[in-house]
Amino acid sequence: MAYGSLAWSLSALLGLLLTPSLGLEPPRISFPLESPERPLPLFSQPDIKNTTTLLLSDDGSTLFVGAQDAVLSLDVSQPDVITMKTKMEWKPPPDVLHECTTKGKKETTDCPNFVRVLQPINATHLYACGTFAYNPQDTYMDTDTLTMAKVPRKYNNGRGCCPFNPYQRNTAISVDGELFTATTNDFRGKTPMVSRHLSKDGRPDVSQDTSVTLNEPTFVSSASDTSEGKVYFFFSEVGNEYSFLDEFKVARVAQVCKDDSGGERILQNRWTSFAKAELLCRPPKELPFNIIQDVFTLTPSEGYSTQDIIFYGIFTSQWSVASGQSAVCAFRLGDIKDVFAGNYKIFQNHQWSPRMDKSSNLGKCGLANASDTTLMAVKESFLASGSVRPIGSAPVLNSPDQRYSRIAALRTKAANGQDYTILFLLSESGFLHKAVLLNKDTHIIEEIQVFRQPQLVKNILLSTSKGVLYVGTSEGVTQVPVSQCSSYKSCAQCVLARDPLCGWDPASGHCASVSAIPANARQDVEHGNVMKECQGSLTAKPLLDDHYN
Ligand SMILES: *[C@@H]1O[C@H](CO)[C@@H](O)[C@H](O)[C@H]1NC(C)=O
Ligand SMILES: *[C@@H]1O[C@H](CO)[C@@H](O)[C@H](O)[C@H]1NC(C)=O
Ligand SMILES: *[C@@H]1O[C@H](CO)[C@@H](O)[C@H](O)[C@H]1NC(C)=O
Repeated sequence: MAYGSLAWSLSALLGLLLTPSLGLEPPRISFPLESPERPLPLFSQPDIKNTTTLLLSDDGSTLFVGAQDAVLSLDVSQPDVITMKTKMEWKPPPDVLHECTTKGKKETTDCPNFVRVLQPINATHLYACGTFAYNPQDTYMDTDTLTMAKVPRKYNNGRGCCPFNPYQRNTAISVDGELFTATTNDFRGKTPMVSRHLSKDGRPDVSQDTSVTLNEPTFVSSASDTSEGKVYFFFSEVGNEYSFLDEFKVARVAQVCKDDSGGERILQNRWTSFAKAELLCRPPKELPFNIIQDVFTLTPSEGYSTQDIIFYGIFTSQWSVASGQSAVCAFRLGDIKDVFAGNYKIFQNHQWSPRMDKSSNLGKCGLANASDTTLMAVKESFLASGSVRPIGSAPVLNSPDQRYSRIAALRTKAANGQDYTILFLLSESGFLHKAVLLNKDTHIIEEIQVFRQPQLVKNILLSTSKGVLYVGTSEGVTQVPVSQCSSYKSCAQCVLARDPLCGWDPASGHCASVSAIPANARQDVEHGNVMKECQGSLTAKPLLDDHYN
């Protein structure tokens, strides 16, 4: 109701249409669960639940999984089977469980230890953090044996590293052995915090100034830019710069400098480099997609600058009451940096206004010894005036009927030498959509059913080098090869798929991975022109079959 009237007032205000754009064709092929043409190795065991935190070892042979009351290491070195290597149980003891239930939480759904952070910390150990009966705990683990070791610091718990409440989202990233996290850090889940832990060289751990800097955020992702020594966080929150719109959500990117050690008198042990900006994802003449669901960081191919790192984000709208609708927007790191290097707003008397002087220090690294005046400016001016616009100023994909929630992306060279981006989009109903971004629009190559029940909590992890996507849900972990060219039995099917990863090999008469047949592959990603590509290698029948399907 409140949303309805808000939608009206906003749409009236901006003169917008509520009808979503049409034009995205449905997937060309759909593979149901356990389809023999698209076999998906699955790891699941009745006693292992909520396998949703995923981390792949550097050599790609081991998948570490944070589950309910356990951390697992899975052998993923074989293409067609996933097996368990080690399981380390990590359960709250009875007295801690009891305390959790006396605080009104449910023993079996709220109080288990849901492992929510798994990050590499050095060559031999992982860092893990779990909700541990609403009492977050963390530990180091040996990567071979998963044996636990104490985290070397004053207070041995995971506060500020992962949430108390297992239903709240959080994000964490380790950079050079230090841990950067964004989570709530209290029992009620009301105090959000971006912080650095396990700080090196004797420098202090650093966290947020006050709760004023964030408003009911939901953190979804983080990334690091080693060239500038910055860490970025992606989230949605209530945008209190839009004070005329109650509870209006905005999607954000925030930055901190990796080496920030806080100020001397002002901002002691607090970020001097925290800044945030709005991310815009809005199709022309439609309401904005203002809630960010997930972000994938696509690093550019060798030889390109880090400015060209692209963040692919999935967005939904606060006002889409209908079951599904979502969009994908792509943001360049260079554009994000420009916004943080520009003007800032100032927060005074509970509202935001443009800052009149252009303080050149805002958003910069290295303010440890800055003057009190400068640090006061940082304290009250951490919202960039500019918003980050997506590449092409509009979504790269706008789905009227799919609510996507997780994303991964890869770049690949098609048979004609052109680079294409392929997106993997996990829908809430349990399907993975594989889409290729074409010069003018987007084509959904295939959809693959990856789980039976709609899943509230799930995760995907892409290994480009292995050509595999892992999907973690409460049912188990599924391995999805990024392509299965052999499922296309004829030249026509192979060409019509328009999959940059697959081409028809006339010599062998098979649809094969383009990388395996670079010189010969018959492929037409833009148009799927069978007549042209399949001349000579066609028997008439499959062509007709496919045309009339
Ligand atoms: C990694 O960290 C663990 C835990 O602090 C420590 O015992 C181990 O020696 C470290 N390994 C290396 C190679 O630094
Ligand atoms: C754990 O998995 C169950 C389904 O098996 C699901 O209902 C529940 O929401 C999950 N809990 C968390 C905290 O992820
Ligand atoms: C800040 O000043 C302290 C001593 O006052 C010095 O040791 C330190 O190197 C300075 N840091 C920077 C970043 O200049």
